[in-house]
Amino acid sequence: MTVTTSYQGPIAVVSIDNPPVNALSKQLRQDLLDAVVRMDADPAVEAVVLSCEGRTFIAGADVKEFGKPPEAPHLPDVVTAIEHAEKPWVGAVHGNVLGGGLEIALGCTYRIAAPKTNFGLPEVKLGIIPGAGGTVRLPRLIGVEAAVDLATSGAVIGTEKAKAVGLIDAVVEGDLREGAVAFAQSIIGLPKPQPISLRAAPQKDGDFWSQAESSVRSKAKREVAPLRALASVRNATEVDFEAAMTFERSTFLDLRASDQAAALRHVFFAERAAPRPPELQGVPAAEILSAAVVGGGTMGAGIVAALRDAGLPVVLIERDAEAAERGLSNVRAIFDGAVKRGRLTAELAADRLAGVQTSTDYGALTDVDLVIEAVFEDLAVKQAVFAKLSGACRADAVLATNTSYLDPNQIGAGVKVPARFLGLHFFSPANVMKLLEIVPTATTSVEAVATGFALARLLGKIPVWAGICDGFIGNRILKVTRAQTERLLLSGATPSAIDAAMRQFGMPMGPFEAQDLGGLDIAAFQRRAARDRGEAVFAPIADKLCELGRFGQKTSGGWYDYAPGDRTPRPSDVVTKIIAGKAGDHLAGEWDNESLAEAIIFPMISEGAAILDEKVALRAADIDIVEIHGYGFPRWRGGLMHYGESVGLSKVVERLRQLSSKGLSAAPSQGLVRAAASDSFDG
Ligand code: 3HC
Ligand code: NAI
Repeated sequence: MTVTTSYQGPIAVVSIDNPPVNALSKQLRQDLLDAVVRMDADPAVEAVVLSCEGRTFIAGADVKEFGKPPEAPHLPDVVTAIEHAEKPWVGAVHGNVLGGGLEIALGCTYRIAAPKTNFGLPEVKLGIIPGAGGTVRLPRLIGVEAAVDLATSGAVIGTEKAKAVGLIDAVVEGDLREGAVAFAQSIIGLPKPQPISLRAAPQKDGDFWSQAESSVRSKAKREVAPLRALASVRNATEVDFEAAMTFERSTFLDLRASDQAAALRHVFFAERAAPRPPELQGVPAAEILSAAVVGGGTMGAGIVAALRDAGLPVVLIERDAEAAERGLSNVRAIFDGAVKRGRLTAELAADRLAGVQTSTDYGALTDVDLVIEAVFEDLAVKQAVFAKLSGACRADAVLATNTSYLDPNQIGAGVKVPARFLGLHFFSPANVMKLLEIVPTATTSVEAVATGFALARLLGKIPVWAGICDGFIGNRILKVTRAQTERLLLSGATPSAIDAAMRQFGMPMGPFEAQDLGGLDIAAFQRRAARDRGEAVFAPIADKLCELGRFGQKTSGGWYDYAPGDRTPRPSDVVTKIIAGKAGDHLAGEWDNESLAEAIIFPMISEGAAILDEKVALRAADIDIVEIHGYGFPRWRGGLMHYGESVGLSKVVERLRQLSSKGLSAAPSQGLVRAAASDSFDG
């Protein structure tokens, strides 16, 4: 049973207990329906309070059921039953009142809330729209504008805003259940107000809807659900209640079965699984109450800001006093930027900065719990830093390197306690990007890995376990992307055609635009280092551009030309000539957006499969998380590997064989060929 009932005089308290988030499973829907019948049949009951056990009200439909056919009782019927019950129902809500949870609350006669409650219709984030009256009842209760905002954005509003727009009737400061019972007592004997479904829908003119459509379209990019949610709210203002409910439900069922919904659901569960991998179940993490960062450049300053945002005191170590001052001003610039964007108050920014102590003396680290090194990408420099850290820090302190491409086994070779050393690979800007690759060495203890995962959760990041190889998971795939795009240039594609194809695919930026923005020098430095290590790196055109000093926007030219002060990429004759010179006779290839995207993404999938095969990544879903949160891969495609599965792995293999036979890509990896046999990366 997910529902129990207790009584306080004539008030029945119907209490839901369906951990972890009281999601509306089939069982809960049935139990609620039974409760309505029971309450109506009980002559002693005059009013009903509906409340939830645990940390939240109902957080929505049970997403786990979305992969299967819908089963009765259906949620719209449960909401209607509550709405038309003979006795008034008082929804007493706290925590998260989301999706189907909000729809249940809209079925209640009154809604009263605890402070700091979140209300929203997040369905669009799962590629669907509300399916139990959210888009139909909400405009009738809070007006069209507010309903459009909630239904199309998936954003949440707090208790104060909910009260202001008329979503809730009262706020209870003390004990919610007691307050709800008192409220229910106060309405006994009053006539039951008209249910929301019987109210007239407010009207809006055509201008309103066309403006709303262009605004939703531009924010949604290629996601379909937000526009369908808008259409459903609009329809709810134009037809009667029953017809609006039918339209909403059929849109919901249609989208529930769509590829985008499957992809977004996959990401929902992958994001929740990643921070707590089964490999770490029951493994204790060390408590991290203080931290230090060595190196206050681009990455170090971002990591300091992330640690401060999580409330940890931080020591920042630099080479000399001048560099320490520069490091601190890098951190200050991050907090100032947050104040300018309205994300932080000036007082909080000052407080965050005050919690950073700079030093050039490792003696300041005798009592820190964790140190993250972010100095130059140079093995000798990093090893020297860890030798000093080994001498200065407590034996149980966790020591981490933020290296991008060097081998953490070598960096940590001389540390005093190898079990407490590991890689923590942040992404730039480190205080913004959610991804954190956790890279154990051959000697890292499982407790230190668990501590890395716990740190990620503390920082609000999504951690992914990554093995050691050149570039770990993300940058190793990026190398394939880069080499592949250059191959395509040599066979007739242009930088602007490739960028357009990748934007059309759903990436926020094309690969060449992105390189021009970030600067070509960083990758050139990494290629040099890789070649020094004896590796072959294919980048004939990028190499030539760097030779010419074309490092991107900062030098007014890279893959594109730029007019001074203007970031608009313009196709460059210089680049066209370089490509023609290197390509010889191969420039005749014919490409369109789709074939270009395939020729770039499929080799990445193949590399992802090799990474899985080598156990550099533990799960295909982890690679999806890396691509989405580190490189802007579209969520609605479910991430790189999920996308491969949705295309069909046999098709990916076949296409790669065609491309490789023409010298346009590497052959499909063995891991990919094996996975294609079962058309799945999960065996
Ligand atoms: N269905 C099934 N499981 C859910 C769930 C849901 N709607 N929401 C959360 N969970 C599970 C998570 O998978 C996780 O399980 P795990 O512990 O086994 O990994 C557990 O609950 C806790 O979730 P979080 O780690 O996300 O906990 P937080 O406290 O950080 O966040 C939350 C809680 C804000 C409720 C967040 O989980 C959330 O946003 N959930 C999704 C809410 C949602 O999208 N609701 C709409 C569903 S669609 C719908 O209602 C359709 C209707 O209109 C017909
Ligand atoms: P950076 O050049 O901006 O900063 C390096 C900082 O380290 C400088 O402030 C320098 O003064 C300091 N430093 C150098 N030697 C030191 C020493 N012995 N002791 C103390 N401080 C010292 O470099 P960036 O970009 O911040 O990179 C740092 C590390 O992070 C590198 O290993 C890099 O590969 C890695 N990384 C970089 C990413 C990026 O996008 N820039 C992304 C992820 C990792």
